[in-house]
Amino acid sequence: MNPNEYITGLHHLTVSVGSAQEDIDFVTQVMGMRMIKQTVLFDGTASVYHLYYANADAEVGSVWTTFPFKKAGVYGKKGSGQIEVSGFSVHPDALPFWKQHLNKHKVKNTGITERFGQKMIQFEDPSGVGIGVFGDANDSRNAWQTDEVSKDNGIRGIHGAVLSVREVEMMDKYLTEVLGFNKVGQEGQYHRYHIRDGGARKVIELHHEPDLPQGSWTFGVGIPHHMAFATANDEQSAELKAYIEGTGYTDVTEIKDRNYFHSIYTRTPGGQLFEFATSDIGFAVDEPKDLLGHELLLPPFFEHRRNEIVAPLEKITVPHYLQST
Ligand SMILES: [Fe+2]
Repeated sequence: MNPNEYITGLHHLTVSVGSAQEDIDFVTQVMGMRMIKQTVLFDGTASVYHLYYANADAEVGSVWTTFPFKKAGVYGKKGSGQIEVSGFSVHPDALPFWKQHLNKHKVKNTGITERFGQKMIQFEDPSGVGIGVFGDANDSRNAWQTDEVSKDNGIRGIHGAVLSVREVEMMDKYLTEVLGFNKVGQEGQYHRYHIRDGGARKVIELHHEPDLPQGSWTFGVGIPHHMAFATANDEQSAELKAYIEGTGYTDVTEIKDRNYFHSIYTRTPGGQLFEFATSDIGFAVDEPKDLLGHELLLPPFFEHRRNEIVAPLEKITVPHYLQST
């Protein structure tokens, strides 16, 4: 099979951050994204929020999710073998706004830089997670609008991800020979790959950092956890799992029920955790589409434990557009 026929692009990016309130404030006010879901971590036994943010249409490929781990007291170590930058696309004309906006909020940033002919700004969230806004004039997805970030300037969805690796060769082979992505160039320490023809949610870069010590693979404040690619449905994910296992990467999980999609996970030779998530369920499965994110929702298999799960969680204030519902 050609896995590239099944993988339509990135589905979501997921990181561990500090406090839930700090995260909500940063992502909704500084990044200007729409909060679309309040739920909890489905793995393990600790009570940890799982917060979802997206563009105006809450569509696959625009989703950024966070696990605020500060209250659980678990901290991560940044390093190689991790996703270094979660990339979002904005219109190139919006980059001067972003520089000014980040400076206004005292968010240290790189200013406008350029790589592979594309302008971008990189910065970190309050917990230290790497984020980038990449100029892409061809991305016509609908950004969420806030008091500070207009629809024209806003984040349109995922652009791609930058992965830090100590060695390029085996991860290069994994991306091109196993997953069927296309290598499109090298610029200094950066190697760029496109899913299909590239563009919105279809760009991956390897950042060769041979001297950077290994980062942690756990959940923990300040480090990314995984990146998810989109498949259509369980049937495609099952075929993809069998295919990846057949290439020798036999540690692909069974299909897990994530309520809003079903997922398989596998560790890559670069160290990053890849997920393949289905696109046929969506975020309106447990609340109305126009009220996404207005209350804490648990999956059916956790409802009987609601009190024990909810009690330890940090008390949060959600954005104003979710408060009157
Ligand atoms: Fe995920």
